[in-house]
Amino acid sequence: MSHQIPQIKLNDGAVFPQVGFGTYKLNGATGVSAIRSALDNGYRALDSAYNYENHGALGEAIRQSDIPRSQIMITSKLPGRHHQYDEALTNIQESLYQTGLKYFDLYLIHWPNPKEDHYVEAWKALIDAQKWGLVRSIGVSNFLPEHIDRLIDETGVTPAVNQVELHPYFSQAPQREYDADHHIATEAWSPLGRASSVLQDSTIKKIADAHKKSVGQIILRWETQIGVMPIPKSSSTVRQRENLHIFDFELTPEEMEAITNLERPDGRVKNQDPAVYEEF
Ligand SMILES: NC(=O)c1ccc[n+]([C@@H]2O[C@H](COP(=O)([O-])OP(=O)(O)OC[C@H]3O[C@@H](n4cnc5c(N)ncnc54)[C@H](OP(=O)(O)O)[C@@H]3O)[C@@H](O)[C@H]2O)c1
Repeated sequence: MSHQIPQIKLNDGAVFPQVGFGTYKLNGATGVSAIRSALDNGYRALDSAYNYENHGALGEAIRQSDIPRSQIMITSKLPGRHHQYDEALTNIQESLYQTGLKYFDLYLIHWPNPKEDHYVEAWKALIDAQKWGLVRSIGVSNFLPEHIDRLIDETGVTPAVNQVELHPYFSQAPQREYDADHHIATEAWSPLGRASSVLQDSTIKKIADAHKKSVGQIILRWETQIGVMPIPKSSSTVRQRENLHIFDFELTPEEMEAITNLERPDGRVKNQDPAVYEEF
């Protein structure tokens, strides 16, 4: 099934579909079948990470699909325990062996882990991995402005992407502004708030009823209209399709504002503030 998914051009010239597919928790045979079904349903960008332990399922789903490799944009991420330069490069190589791929289209540092203070070294490894063709675009995830400033100051290389938690209860306005000022594309992880209370929000429900769409569709449409790249995950083929079927209507400026106003100071799903939270 073909969908009119808008394309986003990154600061290095690469072009990605604005909506991708999250694969966290999609492992083993059921993971393969969910990722294959996402490809069949029109997704052409897949988001994974070494720490999801699903590189095998990801590679198998891609092999089973008849979509040419060149038409699928594949992301993986470097775990916090391998930020040291040599370890980072080995981890990228291992990740490629696990997936059976020759290169990743996008490779991110998963978390900055600022207390460890090795993320600049990790960034240097990603820059070299890009030079050697192991990864095509390079970026970061969960990086705050102060972390990205250091990468740019110390290497002269600006990330192409910053993937951060983003949904109506935590819309990341200051981070989005910083990313835009630096021509960094903002990707939204947990774009549906990982199916938390935001899916029951009465303001969004009212807007959904007016457009005869689901709450999930309204949230994803709002995210695309604020210019970010959501990567919703679903194990259900019906919801996978639903999450892509968001480009046949538009939210009005008033509806956009009503959703933006749902922002909460404690809006993160699991209180994972990258200034202090670390993941290895
Ligand atoms: N960089 C990072 O640190 C980071 C952190 C977290 C996640 N991520 C990435 O972001 C992706 C997405 O985030 P996420 O998986 O945390 O959460 P999410 O995509 O916000 O939500 C997924 C949940 O929503 C349900 N769902 C999906 N579509 C729905 C719909 N239309 N209506 C109602 N429920 C729906 C799914 O259930 P079903 O499966 O049953 O449909 C699942 O329980 C991940 O898979 C991963 O690739 C990155």
